[in-house]
Amino acid sequence: MSDLIHDDYRLLQVISRFGVSLGFGNQSIDAACKASGVDTSTFLAVVNFIQNGGHLPVSELAEEVSVPELMRYLQRSHAYFLDFRLPAIRRKLISAIDYSTKNQIGFLILKYYDEYAAEVQRHMEYENSHIHTYVQQLLDGQVPTRHADYTELAHQHRDNHSSINKSSHELKSIIVKYYSGNTDTQLLADTLMDIYIMEEDLFSHCHLEDTLFAEAVHLLENEVKAKVGNGPADTTLSRTMPQPDASSEELSEREKEVIQLVVRGLSNKEIAEKMFISANTVMTHRRNIARKTQIHSPAGLTIYAIVNGLINLEDVRL
Ligand SMILES: [Fe+2]
Ligand SMILES: [Fe+2]
Repeated sequence: MSDLIHDDYRLLQVISRFGVSLGFGNQSIDAACKASGVDTSTFLAVVNFIQNGGHLPVSELAEEVSVPELMRYLQRSHAYFLDFRLPAIRRKLISAIDYSTKNQIGFLILKYYDEYAAEVQRHMEYENSHIHTYVQQLLDGQVPTRHADYTELAHQHRDNHSSINKSSHELKSIIVKYYSGNTDTQLLADTLMDIYIMEEDLFSHCHLEDTLFAEAVHLLENEVKAKVGNGPADTTLSRTMPQPDASSEELSEREKEVIQLVVRGLSNKEIAEKMFISANTVMTHRRNIARKTQIHSPAGLTIYAIVNGLINLEDVRL
């Protein structure tokens, strides 16, 4: 087990999330897993998945996986991100940037970070309370009836994964492109490094959920359905992650107007009334703005509007 860590230190996180305690001396992987009551095959499947960047055929790995063990691993990962990693980076960010009202961009970056952390929290809490409850029903031998199958339930969730990944990308790029001020540059660079590492870790977590976990649950679902007489479910997981649109077209004058009203804190309905257009048209403008700027939160748009001179600081609703 110790050789595994020496070869790839990222596996320290995997070991801790499985609940395997350090101090395992010269124990083999199997012995160290058994001593902590962890299923060795699931542990090795996750290690292989992470070491190979998720490029191994998941159908083979999924057969080795214990679904309850993998679900516990995912829940421990959620606790790690929500209770430890995100708050730790926030504390560092506060020390690294000037977020007083004198430095509005610093203040907005912190606000953006808080919205990003809240988005991750909503996502993971939904997973714990809905997705994992669905899987627990399967483990209890029942076929949940609220959704056609796990693929349907998880489909919308995959879009959230790409939204979370987009938000963290946006956060880094806002800090790199737009933050300037009296600051501890070493600490800021160090905080950015932490954000890069967390983003990679979170991406790998989401990827594992979308592939290895989804495939293992799919196998379990087929098994349960066959047992209770609903017939086998689909044999393939065909849905793929939606690809972000990399378009970088110019914003139209109407779209700039919408941004100015969004950052002043107006609702879609108020924007529609002010611009004499329908609420649906406002929604279309907002979708196009998100696509063109690759920014989809009001806090991100505020920073964009300030640095691109679309709005004065005093007009921003903080
Ligand atoms: Fe998750
Ligand atoms: Fe997730």
